[in-house]
Amino acid sequence: MSRKIMIYGAGHMGLAIVLGLIRKGHTDVQIVDPSESRRRLLSEQFQLSVLPKSAALGSGDLVVLAMPPQAFAEFASSGAVPRHHAGPVVSVMAGVTMSTIAKSLGVTQVIRSIPNTPSEVFQGMTVFCASPETTAENIEWTRRLFEAFGKAVWVADEALIDPATALCGGGPAFVAYIADAMQAFATSVGFDAPSAVLMTTQVLRGTAELIETTGKPAMQICREVMTPQGTTERGIKHFDEHKLHDILQAALSRSTERSRELGRTT
Ligand SMILES: NC(=O)c1ccc[n+]([C@@H]2O[C@H](COP(=O)([O-])OP(=O)(O)OC[C@H]3O[C@@H](n4cnc5c(N)ncnc54)[C@H](OP(=O)(O)O)[C@@H]3O)[C@@H](O)[C@H]2O)c1
Repeated sequence: MSRKIMIYGAGHMGLAIVLGLIRKGHTDVQIVDPSESRRRLLSEQFQLSVLPKSAALGSGDLVVLAMPPQAFAEFASSGAVPRHHAGPVVSVMAGVTMSTIAKSLGVTQVIRSIPNTPSEVFQGMTVFCASPETTAENIEWTRRLFEAFGKAVWVADEALIDPATALCGGGPAFVAYIADAMQAFATSVGFDAPSAVLMTTQVLRGTAELIETTGKPAMQICREVMTPQGTTERGIKHFDEHKLHDILQAALSRSTERSRELGRTT
């Protein structure tokens, strides 16, 4: 890791990436954000120096695009990244395709990825793909970048980035939605708020760990808790009667479709 990394966008994702890299001992990293209030916040909370404008890029430097997708067109025409920049361009922007990035910036080595917000606590899940021109070395290097703040899965087919956006990018929101229902239930029956948070987060963490460590199918873990005629069985029956499994899959399909729409319009 001896090349400079220039991150554009110091929001949730840009911050997670820079903190992950610093944690891994990487010092040659710079982050740019036009928002004065954001720069001040990051300086106060994390002692991070965020540049208002891009510094000059070396030809092999790695560029990370972590700005909102809507800001990309203007960014591309600003000349911050010189046309034909040789170093790989890594995008975390939802919905912006590799061909749009390649054409807009005049570059060939493009890595498109979808990380998620648990990256902020180094438990991120990033799915990424690369343009055919990207060297194996740069793909591997980028994998290590993502692994600075979580786990990473490479896919050959860019079409898989849309469902990955739904499942991994949006996943924390779907899980937090369920966590909110669990916490609301706990407080409604008399637990105090800290206990409600503790019980919910420990159940989520413990279940994830159980699925991963045992390697058992998720539905087997579910059935193992469902004693016939027991308490959990009655709750799962309620899920089944309301077709919750189908509803969750339909939500992921809708989210995937929205990612495709964004790709067509950005
Ligand atoms: N949040 C997620 O769960 C998630 C998951 C996967 C992927 N993503 C993608 O990650 C990207 C960033 O998301 P986020 O949640 O970090 O957004 P965010 O918190 O809104 O941060 C984006 C930051 O980029 C700044 N920015 C705008 N134009 C810029 C430019 N030309 N150069 C440098 N910085 C610029 C924004 O400043 P202003 O506020 O002044 O505009 C803002 O501070 C998005 O493309 C999003 O699609 C997000």
